Amino acid sequence: MSLYRNSIWFLKGIHEYTRKGFESAAKRFVEKDLDVSVAGRSFMITGASSGIGKAAAIAIAKRGGVIHMVCRNKDKAEEARGDIIRETANKEIHVHILDLSEPRKVWEFAEAFKKKYKSLNVLINNAGSMMNEREVNTDGLEKSFATNTLGVYILTKSLIPLLEKSSDPRVITVSSGGMLVQKLRTGNLQSERGPFDGTKVYAQNKRQQVVMTEQWAKTHDSIHFSVMHPGWADTPAVAAARPDFYRSMQHKLRSPEQGADTVVWLAVSEAAAAKPSGRFFQDRRMVSAHLPLAWTRSPQDREQKFMVLLEEIGKTFQPH
Ligand SMILES: NC(=O)c1ccc[n+]([C@@H]2O[C@H](COP(=O)([O-])OP(=O)(O)OC[C@H]3O[C@@H](n4cnc5c(N)ncnc54)[C@H](OP(=O)(O)O)[C@@H]3O)[C@@H](O)[C@H]2O)c1
Repeated sequence: MSLYRNSIWFLKGIHEYTRKGFESAAKRFVEKDLDVSVAGRSFMITGASSGIGKAAAIAIAKRGGVIHMVCRNKDKAEEARGDIIRETANKEIHVHILDLSEPRKVWEFAEAFKKKYKSLNVLINNAGSMMNEREVNTDGLEKSFATNTLGVYILTKSLIPLLEKSSDPRVITVSSGGMLVQKLRTGNLQSERGPFDGTKVYAQNKRQQVVMTEQWAKTHDSIHFSVMHPGWADTPAVAAARPDFYRSMQHKLRSPEQGADTVVWLAVSEAAAAKPSGRFFQDRRMVSAHLPLAWTRSPQDREQKFMVLLEEIGKTFQPH
């Protein structure tokens, strides 16, 4: 079964996730959707120092948005900030240093941000990483889960009150088509049992992002939540985490700008806000978060139990 589903997914990828897939999808894009000014609106983008996050920051800065880059490496972030200002002539680009795999720091950062800034219109949960070996953070949490799931959960949860006070608030999470071969698991969140398979753990965390988005949409109806797959884009993360895939696919990969296109569309366009909240997108289109046969669907109570688990784990790191 797993060979079958992985093959189905890979064939889908070859057709849809590559540069050619993007070019073919782009024929139906409505150009004026992105012909907007977002001057005065503020956008927090995690992992904006490279790849898809940086490309999204540039596209939004060109349209006048205030950008809050949330990055873990100060030098890289400052260099990217310089590039963004040079390329867009927008000086409202702010750098915040945060390692999303450290939950205490994520709480502290978000709480301080809420005190300092009166509004945040859009949160883009873009930062993500795939670990090849099981590594733990300073609190003993497995790092892929800590970054891709718990970090996204705490940042979003903590910023929801600020988003709710702001106009036309949106939360966009950059997931991955890899999650299509994963069903939500809640039993081994820290990958403590069994051999560690970084690709599977990453794909599971990306499924968890889809579930979080669906659940948040149900409980916070003034915010527009979406989650998306950027396709296969040529970025440092792909080259580092999947060198064989990168070598064989390099010439077929999307550019970071093509990978960021749907992120930008979800963040700035009216057309995106008119779609239902909590849905999964690819190439500016709402698509199913499940492959045919639907074996990856989970009952509601399991998804709710997962949110309760995150709440409980998150709370243990919350400053008093
Ligand atoms: N490229 C693809 O084909 C593809 C496909 C599916 C999904 N995605 C998703 O797209 C998103 C962006 O990735 P990308 O491909 O653009 O790769 P990238 O260029 O390597 O960007 C990833 C960004 O996330 C940051 N990051 C990673 N771990 C972090 C942490 N613990 N705390 C703070 N920042 C952290 C990285 O910071 P550093 O620079 O310090 O490492 C970097 O800025 C990720 O969520 C990825 O899973 C990408």
